[in-house]
Amino acid sequence: MDRDVIKDQFFNQNILTADQFSYEGLSELFAFAERMRPIARRVVRSQVLSGFIMGSFFFTESTRTRISSEAAFQRLGGAVVTFTDMKFSSMMKDETFADTISSLDVYCDIMTLRLEEEGQAAIAADIAQHPVINGGDGSGEHPTQALLDVFTFQEASKFDIAHTPFKIAIVGDLKYGRTVHSLVPLLRKYCCDVQFQFVSPEFLKLPAKVETNARLSFSNASWTDDFKQGITGADIIYMVRPQLERMEDDEEREKWREVQSRYCLDRSVFKECCNPQALITHPGPRNAELSPGLDDLPNSVYRRRQPENGVLIRMALPVFILGKEDKFV
Ligand code: NCD
Repeated sequence: MDRDVIKDQFFNQNILTADQFSYEGLSELFAFAERMRPIARRVVRSQVLSGFIMGSFFFTESTRTRISSEAAFQRLGGAVVTFTDMKFSSMMKDETFADTISSLDVYCDIMTLRLEEEGQAAIAADIAQHPVINGGDGSGEHPTQALLDVFTFQEASKFDIAHTPFKIAIVGDLKYGRTVHSLVPLLRKYCCDVQFQFVSPEFLKLPAKVETNARLSFSNASWTDDFKQGITGADIIYMVRPQLERMEDDEEREKWREVQSRYCLDRSVFKECCNPQALITHPGPRNAELSPGLDDLPNSVYRRRQPENGVLIRMALPVFILGKEDKFV
């Protein structure tokens, strides 16, 4: 364990963007997350976060992120205070976002927030005195999802993704899918040689801002709207659902409906195009883009391994942020 790296990258830090991590920080986090597994599996017990309170404030809907963050914190002996919809907050009584965050900040030692608008997590972090974890801000980012995704790729792949060249096909709504906006820079930080194959209709391409920030170029990334061609030869396939609620208008939603049947992975397409070892991954929730007929393949990791690894990452992160890694036994 490199304590200097952990202190520098995590202690008292906000977790706002995937871009903030270094390879060394990610290696420390992933190694520590692996040590959380016996606790997540109830083989060993730990009270390392006893006495701390996490605020878990989700202004918009969530299944996995909220519940896994809360379960992780409580599994380590911490307590959680929560709300699951801004309509249960005084923002419905015209309180400002800034006043809401500064009040909530008083009650807890660390906050996980899910917010409606891109950039709001950074605004909250500026207001709060305690560390803020971005649990998804509009079409912005979702860094903890990307952490659990990359951790899962590493853990489930038959090769070392950090040091071996590989190809990932990222398929679906790349424009509004915030998990993709965090996954791309995180893979660039952690892996020495990753080839990105983006697969989407033209109008849902990855935003130029994400491409630029992640320093993508012709040599490490390409785009196609041809699904079968795009997934051929990939070592990892990452599917995302259409973010219908964030599309500009009905016209954009209609455009998606016209093409959606071209972007569905099922067993026969998988057999026809993919390397049989290819990992099939999805952050959830899935819609029609991923057939339940793939669920029982050993390389389908979206049903159990990604959600379980989410708990490990969301245990390790607050331990580092609250500076308790030395107390962990
Ligand atoms: C994602 C999200 O909320 O961004 N879900 C998640 O947290 N696992 C993906 C999505 O909503 O499509």
